[in-house]
Amino acid sequence: MSYRVGIVGATGAVGQELIELLHRRNFPMESLTLLASKRSTGKTITWEDKSWVVEEAVASAFDGLDVAIFSAGASTSKELGPEAAKRGCVVVDNSSAFRMDADVPLVVPEVNAHAMREHKGIIANPNCSTAVALMGLYPLHEAFGLKRFTAATYQAVSGAGASAMQELVDQLHAWAKDEPLKVEKFPHQIAFNVLPHVDVFYEDGYTKEEHKMLNECRKILGLESLRASTTCVRVPVLRAHSIAINAEFERPVDLAKAREAIAGFAGAELCDDPAHNRYPMPLDYSGKEKCGVGRLRIDSALDNGLALWVVGDQLWKGAALNAVQIAEELHRQSALA
Ligand code: A2P
Repeated sequence: MSYRVGIVGATGAVGQELIELLHRRNFPMESLTLLASKRSTGKTITWEDKSWVVEEAVASAFDGLDVAIFSAGASTSKELGPEAAKRGCVVVDNSSAFRMDADVPLVVPEVNAHAMREHKGIIANPNCSTAVALMGLYPLHEAFGLKRFTAATYQAVSGAGASAMQELVDQLHAWAKDEPLKVEKFPHQIAFNVLPHVDVFYEDGYTKEEHKMLNECRKILGLESLRASTTCVRVPVLRAHSIAINAEFERPVDLAKAREAIAGFAGAELCDDPAHNRYPMPLDYSGKEKCGVGRLRIDSALDNGLALWVVGDQLWKGAALNAVQIAEELHRQSALA
C-alpha cells in the first residue's frame, strides 16, 4: 500500500525537513504534493534527483490525497485542516490550532500511539519543546511516576522558521562588518543575546509557549494532576533545543534505574559521561532522530527528584520527524484510505 501525500508549508523550515524525512525513512508514497502560500506557487523544489512544482494550498488541493502534513502556522491549519479532513485526507498538524481539542489526539508515537485510534480526521503534533522534554521525562515517568517539574528551555531560532534562522546569520554577518543589525523576527537582537520570551505573554506572567509545555504534557501523558513551571528562552543557536529539567516523582528515584530507563527508551539516548566532557549539545543533536539525555543526577532540592538535560532537533523530533512517525503509525494501524 502506498499513499498520496501532501505537505502544507513545503517551502518552510519544517516543510523542507518533511521532504527529506519522508524519503529517508522510505514512507510508502505514490505521490507527493507540495503546497504553500500563493507567493510560492510555481516555485520548483528539488530533493536529490527529484523535483516538484509548488502548488497553492487551497481546499481543492486535498482532493485525492490520503494524508497531509501541515506546517504552515495555526491560521492556515484552522482554515484548511477541516477542509482536507472533509475530503477524506487525514491531517497531521504541526501547529497549535487543534492540540487541545478534545476530539483531536495529540500524539508522540513512542508515548501514546494508542490515542491515534480515536482520530476523526485530524491528529496533532505537539509543540517542539514539549516533544523534546518528553523524550527525557517519559521514560522516567514510566520508572518513577512523574509528579511535577520545573524547566528552562534553550530554544534554537529555527523554531521560529526559516526567516528567523536567516535573521541570526544576517545579524552575525552585519556585526562582523560593523554594520547596523536588522531586528525583525524577534523583539530584540538575537545575535550574542538570550531572550526569555518565546511566543506571547499571558496575564499570569507565563508565555503561551510555557502554557503549551504544561497542557500538552498533561494531555500526552494522560496525567491531569501534573504540575509544571517552565521558562522558555530563545538562544542564538540555529538548530536543536536544549532543556534543563528538575523533576519530582511519586516513587523514590534511583540513578542506575533512571539511566537504564533512558537508555532503553526508543526516543532517547543516554549521553552522560561528564568525566570526559560528554553531554548532549545542539551541534551534536542537529539532524539526529534520537534526543540526547545527560547530566542526570539526584536533585538536591526536591523529594524523589532528578535533574537532567535533554537536547533534541526540534525541526525533527519537535516537528517533522514526529509528524512522519505519526503517518508511519497510521500506515501500521492501516488507518489511511
Ligand atoms: P511561503 O513560503 O509560500 O510563505 P517557516 O515556518 O519556515 O516560516 O515556513 C512557513 C511555511 O508556511 C512556508 O512554507 C509558507 O509558505 C507557509 N505558509 C505561510 N502562510 C501560508 C498560507 N496562508 N497558506 C499556505 N501556506 C502558508
